[in-house]
Amino acid sequence: MRKIVFVTGNKGKFREAKEILAAKDIEVIQNNEGYPELQEDDLEPIAAFGAEWAAQRLGMPVMVDDSGLFIRALNGFPGPYSAFVEKNLGNKKVLKLMEDEKDRTATFKSVIGYCEPGKEAEVFTGTVEGTISFEERGTGGFGYDPIFDYNGKTFGELGSKEKNRVSHRRRALDKFFMWLD
Ligand code: IMP
Repeated sequence: MRKIVFVTGNKGKFREAKEILAAKDIEVIQNNEGYPELQEDDLEPIAAFGAEWAAQRLGMPVMVDDSGLFIRALNGFPGPYSAFVEKNLGNKKVLKLMEDEKDRTATFKSVIGYCEPGKEAEVFTGTVEGTISFEERGTGGFGYDPIFDYNGKTFGELGSKEKNRVSHRRRALDKFFMWLD
């Protein structure tokens, strides 16, 4: 069984990556040491820099996941600031910002960065389209899951098995797995 070190402090990301990659016979080991996050409009350079930094620091191959929610009516906000906004504003304030918006389309994006020491990072992007709900629904998942509606159910209502079948993270990890293979 192949083993991969996932540098993340986010329990939700780790749990999902572990479940998704277990089905492909890959064991995911969490490392909590973190990495500096660049301030960029796109997630790809943030994930690439983080993976390169962590691989160099730990002296082993690592993966990272930089992800976020991009709401069209808010010009992509919170995007790369998703973790900060979730922590400091939360879902209710995001819903408030969306109160009068008719266009509720939003994209979840996950960028997996993978790097071996001394090499350049590879990045794998996965996205899923949905809409921002009018209220929080469901207790599953983490972060923005209760306000991200996917075909009539929020990710918070879907349950991990269903979410992991269609999520941005699943799509990015599928690309990563194909590349590894
Ligand atoms: P970062 O990748 O550490 O910058 O943080 C990404 C943030 O986006 C997380 O803290 C969550 O708020 C949010 N996020 C990313 N993926 C998901 C997801 O699958 N469900 C819900 N929220 C997510």
